Parts: sequence; C-alpha cells; structure tokens
Amino acid sequence: MSDLENQTQPTLFDEIGGYSKIKELVDRFYDLMELESQFAELRKVHPIQLDSSREKLTMFLSGWTGGPNLYIEKYGHPKLRARHLPYPINLEMRDQWLRCMGQAMNDVQIPEPLWERLLKAFFDTADWMRNQAN
Ligand code: HEM
Repeated sequence: MSDLENQTQPTLFDEIGGYSKIKELVDRFYDLMELESQFAELRKVHPIQLDSSREKLTMFLSGWTGGPNLYIEKYGHPKLRARHLPYPINLEMRDQWLRCMGQAMNDVQIPEPLWERLLKAFFDTADWMRNQAN
C-alpha cells in the first residue's frame, strides 16, 4: 500500500485514539471484571493480580488494531488459541468476555459505528478461542 493510501485509510488503532485510549479501554475492561458479579466466572479463571493481564492485553490490542506490535516485540508470537487452552472457554465464558468488553467500550465512549466494528472483530477472536462444545 502506498503512503498516500495509508493516509486515507486510518487503522482501527488510529480511529480508537491510539495507545492511551486502548490502555483506558483495557483498564476499564479489567475494572468491570473485578466489580460486576455478572462477570464472576470470567474473573475466576484470571490471576488474582491483574497487572500483567492489563499490560499484555493493552500491548496485544495495539498490534491487533493495526498499531505498533508491542506484544510481539516483547513476548513473540501470541499463539493466542494455544495460550487459552488451559481455560475452559464455552459459549457463556465467551459471552461474558464480550459483554465485559462491550460495556468497557461504552464506558470509555467508543463512538457507535466503531463500537460495532470492534465488537464484531472481538466476537470473531473470542469465538475462535472457544475450546468447549457447548
Ligand atoms: C473468549 C473468552 C476469553 C477468556 C475466558 C480469556 C481468558 C484469559 C485468561 C484466563 C488469560 C490468562 C491470564 C492473563 O494473562 O491475563 C488470558 C490471557 C490473554 N488473553 Fe484472553 N480470554 C478470552 C478472550 C480473549 C480475546 C478475545 C482476546 C483478544 C482480543 C484475548 C487476549 C488475551 C491476551 C493477549 C492474553 C495474554 C496472553 C499471554 O501472553 O499470556 N483473550 N485470557
């Protein structure tokens, strides 16, 4: 792609508002996971301390949205599906993750058309992570 085309097609990373907005989103996502009883099962499979989860998801989403590949630079290939195999991810767990992220996107005021695009992309990735039949 030429530089000119690049300029006319901002990445999702740019549209969201760059690294600081992604960090805000991820922080809200994990805060909600701690606060809301509807996400209790999702919270239970996560570590007690969420600092590393916050850092890793922020770095990952930077690259995943077309911004700097911070996760890969630090940790190598994410092998996301394999890394999620130890956790039982069924439809309910997938949907808790997506509801938590959807609410976090609302709370940090991701505008509507972008919210829809991101939720769809998150759905595809979360669904691909499912490792239980139901
Ligand atoms: C489908 C439901 C999901 C569940 C139940 C789940 C759960 C988990 C758990 C328990 C961990 C390990 C603890 C941690 O390091 O935070 C983890 C790590 C991670 N998850 Fe998920 N996750 C889900 C979906 C997703 C999605 C959709 C993404 C990306 C869009 C994602 C990205 C990551 C990343 C980048 C890590 C860190 C990997 C590492 O370096 O160890 N997860 N997830």
